[in-house]
Amino acid sequence: MSTKQNLVNWIDDRFPMTKVWNEHLAQYYAPKNFNFWYFFGSLALLVLVNQILTGVWLAMMYKPSAADAFASIEYIMRDVEWGWLIRYMHSTGASAFFIVIYLHMFRGILYGSHKNPREMVWLFGVVIYVVMMATAFMGYLLPWGQMSFWGAQVIVNLFQAIPLIGEELSVWIRGDYVISDATLNRFFALHFLLPFILAALVFLHIVALHKVGSNNPDGVDIKKNKDENGIPKDGIPFHPYYTVKDIVGVVVFLMFFAGIIFFWPEANGYFIEKPNFEPANPLKTPEHIAPVWYFTPFYAILRAVPSFAGTQVWGVIAMGVSIVAFFLLPWLDQSNAKSHRYKGPLFKYALAIFVVTFAILGYLGVVSATADRTLVAQLLTLIYFGFFFLMPAYTRETSDKTTMAKIYFAAMAISTIATLYYWWLFDGGADGSLLVKLIVTAIAAGHFVIFGIKPWLKPEQSSPVPERVTE
Ligand code: HEM
Repeated sequence: MSTKQNLVNWIDDRFPMTKVWNEHLAQYYAPKNFNFWYFFGSLALLVLVNQILTGVWLAMMYKPSAADAFASIEYIMRDVEWGWLIRYMHSTGASAFFIVIYLHMFRGILYGSHKNPREMVWLFGVVIYVVMMATAFMGYLLPWGQMSFWGAQVIVNLFQAIPLIGEELSVWIRGDYVISDATLNRFFALHFLLPFILAALVFLHIVALHKVGSNNPDGVDIKKNKDENGIPKDGIPFHPYYTVKDIVGVVVFLMFFAGIIFFWPEANGYFIEKPNFEPANPLKTPEHIAPVWYFTPFYAILRAVPSFAGTQVWGVIAMGVSIVAFFLLPWLDQSNAKSHRYKGPLFKYALAIFVVTFAILGYLGVVSATADRTLVAQLLTLIYFGFFFLMPAYTRETSDKTTMAKIYFAAMAISTIATLYYWWLFDGGADGSLLVKLIVTAIAAGHFVIFGIKPWLKPEQSSPVPERVTE
């Protein structure tokens, strides 16, 4: 026996190395029809590793105190050898992480990967997403620039709106009455810790995935068709087939990533906002405060909800629900088919409208609020929630469908008439431009046709899902 085999045997007697390798890679059978959308899981892993490594190196030179933080970042950028590269890999990496994750989540919704039996995979995913948001939020305070300071000020102040405990809670989070040295210090500690929690959550995410097996663009259960050796006919071993495929994704991703790091690292204020090149000044509020792009859809929802009964808590609640809604997706989606390929048209319309809505809300969260924009944001907030909470209605395929469709038709008709009345007759958008009126009306009318008339004429119906994958 060769020395290498001896070593492997020695380890295998003490640790299940070969067993784990085979069960999760060399003999782990994944559907053979993975496509472009399946690159983003491994890319997310790559970016997480990038964030941890560059983060640890940054921490060696960074000083988490209000007096030194800004200067220590400048020191990293100017004096530390390759410091600028490590810093940009980390700051651009944060945005890359969210781009990759949004595409990864979109793939999940597109192919119904959130549905039975992958609910746990999805739920771990959404927890990961929430932890990512917390990590990014705390990381953004660390350079102690103007936007770091004022962004954190605005977001932590939101907790004040919570009745009874809000005031004390916000002081507890900050460790002070305003964002201060104490806040910076604890945010640094947590920002260092959370990525390791993320790594643990990703482990659980993969454990859950390997328990049930991967979904695929057809949503076909490959375990149902096995050959005489018990190997799925539509499966191929993850290693070497998908390890090699994923390397192609990694190379292409790194080309884009490097291009941005070297030529456009701040993305014109989208990845690092311009006021953040000025040190934090508690006495000078920037003209316009906005979070980084990956938070802005939720920020737009927050701003869209007016204060009511003397409290602004409604906006905070709406923003919370807009994130929590993702947790509920496996149960909101009632379609028989998993993949959009076999679902009826309504789901596809809804998903397309949702993506556009999310993007426009993202834009509205970046720019300053005007009366017009707030009204558009309000309408889009309704559509955002409609996508989630009307989903049981527009995806259900049972016999009570016709009644559902009629109720839905009525709801859509009423909301469309209300919109038209508000904008044109009641002149709700009095200070709004004609263009905005037309856009809002088009959205309302389009909704009525798609979600009111369409299901009423012909209820949603999935087409039969084939036994085997089609590609
Ligand atoms: C650090 C963040 C994350 C990492 C490293 C990660 C990693 C992965 C990997 C490696 C896979 C298997 C390969 C693939 O299907 O692409 C996967 C699958 C999956 N992930 Fe994630 N993920 C992350 C976040 C999320 C989030 C935020 C969600 C949803 C909210 C999510 C939902 C899913 C689902 C549903 C699958 C199964 C897809 C299928 O089988 O079709 N993941 N993830």
